[in-house]
Amino acid sequence: MKTFLLGFCALVAATPLPAVECDRAVLLKAADAYVASQTAGSIEPLQSVLAGNWTYTENNKVISHTKGVIHKPLKLDHRRTNTDLVACATYTELISASGPYTIATQIRHDAAGKVNSIDTIAATTNSWLFNATKTLEYVKQEKWDVIPEGMRDKREVIQAAGDAYMSMWDDAHAHERVPWGTPCTRLEGSAYTGKGRPDDSCQPGIPSNHSQAPNTHRRYVIDVEMGSVSIFCVWEHMMMAADSHEFRLENGKLRYVHTMTECGGKPCKL
Ligand SMILES: *[C@@H]1O[C@H](CO)[C@@H](O)[C@H](O)[C@H]1NC(C)=O
Ligand SMILES: *[C@@H]1O[C@H](CO)[C@@H](O)[C@H](O)[C@H]1NC(C)=O
Ligand SMILES: *[C@@H]1O[C@H](CO)[C@@H](O)[C@H](O)[C@H]1NC(C)=O
Repeated sequence: MKTFLLGFCALVAATPLPAVECDRAVLLKAADAYVASQTAGSIEPLQSVLAGNWTYTENNKVISHTKGVIHKPLKLDHRRTNTDLVACATYTELISASGPYTIATQIRHDAAGKVNSIDTIAATTNSWLFNATKTLEYVKQEKWDVIPEGMRDKREVIQAAGDAYMSMWDDAHAHERVPWGTPCTRLEGSAYTGKGRPDDSCQPGIPSNHSQAPNTHRRYVIDVEMGSVSIFCVWEHMMMAADSHEFRLENGKLRYVHTMTECGGKPCKL
């Protein structure tokens, strides 16, 4: 019996069950409701898709949604939603120039399709390199189209690229694992490395000190069709900030990096 169980466990470990795909329409409906809520400054539009015990996390703290940015009506100038059909989650990037806010939100669904977690990084005045108007200008220049079938990178490859990047602060070899692409542009808060040139690179200015505190408590939303991974974490080496990094790969190579980093309401300082 014991042997059988061991053998069974080994088999399960070696061959993951085929993932049942989440329903994209359900995910998008909730993301749309979330955007409607942020626009209205009320969770009313979300009510019908929320699980009874859903949690609201803002800047890495679980709080009452009534105290969150979601209760501030915002005029949104930009919205992009990516879907993760394996984790049953979405990632939404929002910019409100007048807010001013840049907002990154991961929404997770339970097995019944209901939303059980809204996890937001909300950057505003005092956040790292913050200027929502400028961020908006740069975001509008970028092209995040769906990657054609047959040219898509595997989920694991996309995640590994993002993880390697996030580990450059505490791992001297991590940069060797990042599939650097050309051109590649970084949009960190409102600071843009892109010059619109074919040789734009994301490598200038990457961490040279690999003995810093790590980026921990990582949460992922991976969209294979978009070639993207959203990673939320605790940015321990800068004031334990709440951080959102998003990466897009094209043809296996890093093409875009977006960041939003909020320092507990205080001015971010290295
Ligand atoms: C929320 O409720 C569902 C269904 O009752 C349950 O399965 C789940 O464990 C609960 N989650 C939390 C975080 O309490
Ligand atoms: C933000 O960026 C815009 C557009 O580049 C600029 O006009 C504005 O002065 C900036 N605001 C601040 C507070 O630096
Ligand atoms: C690297 O970072 C660590 C942790 O912040 C710091 O103690 C050390 O002085 C830094 N090293 C250099 C060369 O800046």
